[in-house]
Formats: sequence, C-alpha cells, structure tokens
Amino acid sequence: MAKRPDVVPAVKGTRDLLPPETDLWHQAEQVCRAVFEAYNYREMRTPILEETELFARSVGAETDIVGKQMYTFEDRDGRSLTLRPEATASVVRAYLESGARNEAGIKKYFYLGPMFRRERPQKGRYRQFYQIGAEVLGSGRPEVDVEVLEMLHLLLGRLNLGQCELLLNSVGCSNCRPKYVRLLQKELQAVGAKLCADCQRRIERNPLRVLDCKIAADQPVIDSLPKISQHWCGECAAHFEQVTTQLTERGIAFRRTPRLVRGLDYYTRTTFEITHTGLGAQNALLGGGRYDGLAELLGGPPVEGMGFAIGEDRFLMAVEQAGALRAAAGPEVFVAWLGEGAQAAAFRLTRRLRAEGFRTEIRPDPVNLKKSLGLANKTHARFALVLGEEEAAKEVVQLKDMEAGRQEEIPIARVVEVLKDFFSAAKRT
Ligand code: HAM
Repeated sequence: MAKRPDVVPAVKGTRDLLPPETDLWHQAEQVCRAVFEAYNYREMRTPILEETELFARSVGAETDIVGKQMYTFEDRDGRSLTLRPEATASVVRAYLESGARNEAGIKKYFYLGPMFRRERPQKGRYRQFYQIGAEVLGSGRPEVDVEVLEMLHLLLGRLNLGQCELLLNSVGCSNCRPKYVRLLQKELQAVGAKLCADCQRRIERNPLRVLDCKIAADQPVIDSLPKISQHWCGECAAHFEQVTTQLTERGIAFRRTPRLVRGLDYYTRTTFEITHTGLGAQNALLGGGRYDGLAELLGGPPVEGMGFAIGEDRFLMAVEQAGALRAAAGPEVFVAWLGEGAQAAAFRLTRRLRAEGFRTEIRPDPVNLKKSLGLANKTHARFALVLGEEEAAKEVVQLKDMEAGRQEEIPIARVVEVLKDFFSAAKRT
C-alpha cells in the first residue's frame, strides 16, 4: 500500500486558532471595540502587504524589526514588498493618502489584524501574531496621551486584568534627543568592552537600543549611563510633567522608567508599555507612544500622532487567566429526531429556532433516543428537543434541560417562547 503523505505542518512560529478559543478572541475584541467606540475611535483596515520602504523610513533601517525580522520579498515586477510587522506606519500612510488629513479636527482610528516578524518563537512570541491598536492623529497635546492611557486603564479594568503595570518614559524630540544620543554614544564607547556583543554593535548603529538590553551582566554598566530625562529640552520636560500630573489626577498609576526606549525609531516624547506579571518572559502586553515626526518621514506635512498596539495573543493569555470571559460551551439547543415521520417537523423547528437566533444543532440522520441524548450531552448542549413520530403527529416536543436533567412535553408552537424566557432570565442572573 502506498504510504499516506504526512500532513503539511503550519509554518514555524504561526499557529491555528480553533474554537472554543476563537470565541474568547471574538469576545475580547468586542470589549475592545466597545471601549474604543466610547472614546470615538473608528475602525481602519489597511493592507497586510506594503512597500518595504514604508517600514524602512518609519520603524527605522537600524532597528531589529527592519534589519532582521521582516518578511520581505521581491514581487514579480521587481518591487520590494513586506508583510507588515506593525500597523502605525500604514495608518499614517492611509491618513495622508486618503486626504483625511484635510478634514478638520483630530482623527482617531483603531485596527486589528495579523502582523509578521521573524523572531525566535516562544510562549507569547510568534512570527504571525495579532495586534489590536489605536492611533490619534492631529494633536500634540499631553491631554491626548493621558486620554489614550485612561482608555487603556478602562479596558484592562473591564476585563479584570490586574497584575498590570504602566511603564512610562519620554524619548525626547528631534531637538534634544540627538544631543543625548551623541553623549550616550561617547559614554558607551568608553565602557563598550564590558558589554555584550549585540550592545557593542548597537553603540555605533543605534546607541539608544543599548538601554533596552536584557543581558544580566550588562545591567550595572547600563544603569550608570546618563538618563535621557536629564537631557530633555524645556518643552519635552513640560510635556512629561503634564502627562504625569494629569495621570495622577485621574488616579492612574504608572512607573517612570528612564530606560524604556522601545524598538521602533519613530517615537518622540511619551513612550509607554504595560506589562503583565502572568505572562512569563514575554511580559509586554502592549506598547505605544507619541510619534510627532512620523508623517514627515513618510513624505507628508507635520502631523502629530500618538497610539499603541496591544499584543492580542498575550492579551488573550491574560484574559484567560483573569477568567472575566467564558467561551460558549456548546449549542443552546440540540434537536434530536427519531423516525422518518419526524424529519420534516424537526428541520422546520430547527430553522425557526435559528431564525430566532438560538445556537441550534440538529443531527443530519435519525438515531435512537439514547444516542441522541448522548450526543446532546457530549456537545454540551443546554437543551435537547426530542421529536419522534408520535410527538410530530401531536405537534409537541420533549424539552430536556440537560443541566437539571428535567424533561417536559410542550407544544411545538410554544418552544420559541419558552426558550426565550429561559435565556433572557439566565442573562439577567
Ligand atoms: P511593539 O511594541 O513593537 O509596538 O508591539 C506592540 C505589542 O505587540 C507588544 O507589546 C507585544 O505585546 C506584541 N508583539 C510584538 N511582537 C510580537 C510577537 N512576535 N509575538 C507576539 N506578540 C508580539 C508596535 O508595534 C507599535 N506599532 C505600537 C504603536 C502604535 N505605537 C504607536 N502606535
């Protein structure tokens, strides 16, 4: 006999999401949408494929993302395309290209979808992962930063996500940061020999990234380096002061984290991450910040911007731990029919239940009563409706409450009403 070929596996670092997990994803996304909509954000959908140059110009050619992690390929017409590693650059591009920037006022967008980075896969880190993000374009005010952080506070609270910590910093602006980076580079050149090989490379190419190094042996040296907060210009210092004052006024806790520089080059002023202690090594639940120079890097006029992206894969790990959402167990109603004479009535009833919105399943083939109820049980149905030929003739069904084990005979005409009463009462308790 010919050997059956192996199943072609999913690509390394990617994974399938199956029910009931997808139920939870959907519910978590619904909560995000509801919170974002309350803050007047509207959804934007951008392509997964972009010109490579979009990310080289915005995220930065010297970053790990652009330098090592992008899925880039040459299209048949010789153009270099990339599977998006993040979406902020796309949102700003779409804003500039669509003419939305010519409309008055601040624009607020949210998005969700897959991103691609060729990182070493581990728990909470994938090569295809999902982000839920939001961006505010058109204002440089600290009030915008605070509103974004307040919205995240509300969102995490709504899902009972304790164990979270907001880390806050400012990376300065095009006025003060270059001077700090030069100073940092000089200091690093003096102590570079004590640092790991990656850091030694970064000293020349992207010295700020040294601050983000996680190697234990490097920490004492990095801790002794000058802090960016000591080198902010007057405006950056005032902006940070405003943000922290207003956060305190609104009762939102944060930790000043002078070494938080983030892995993307487009940031100016406020940067932040929210970590979650239940996530293990990959504990950054979300990250974001202000990017007032990004529109210009992409060839547009100056447009101030601020936003964040939640790592949805990690978010769902935290949501599951918190237990605030529960995946639906099985169908609400399982219709079991016995005998050819009951078939038409059973399928008619099923169609009516589905039209009324009950999650309903029916056996495509007749099986005996014991087997039917066994199936209803196995699929975790809440109710079974048993319809044999005798019932069909009398226009009744046996309604079995699978949790309570109770069974009663009711007219087919009353089934919808009885189930509606039950499920609306269940929702209230
Ligand atoms: P980011 O920090 O690169 O920022 O990514 C945001 C979040 O995406 C991270 O905190 C993490 O939860 C998740 N994430 C990143 N890489 C992976 C991965 N390989 N596997 C699983 N999750 C991952 C950005 O992408 C910016 N665009 C955020 C932003 C929006 N800044 C301003 N606006």
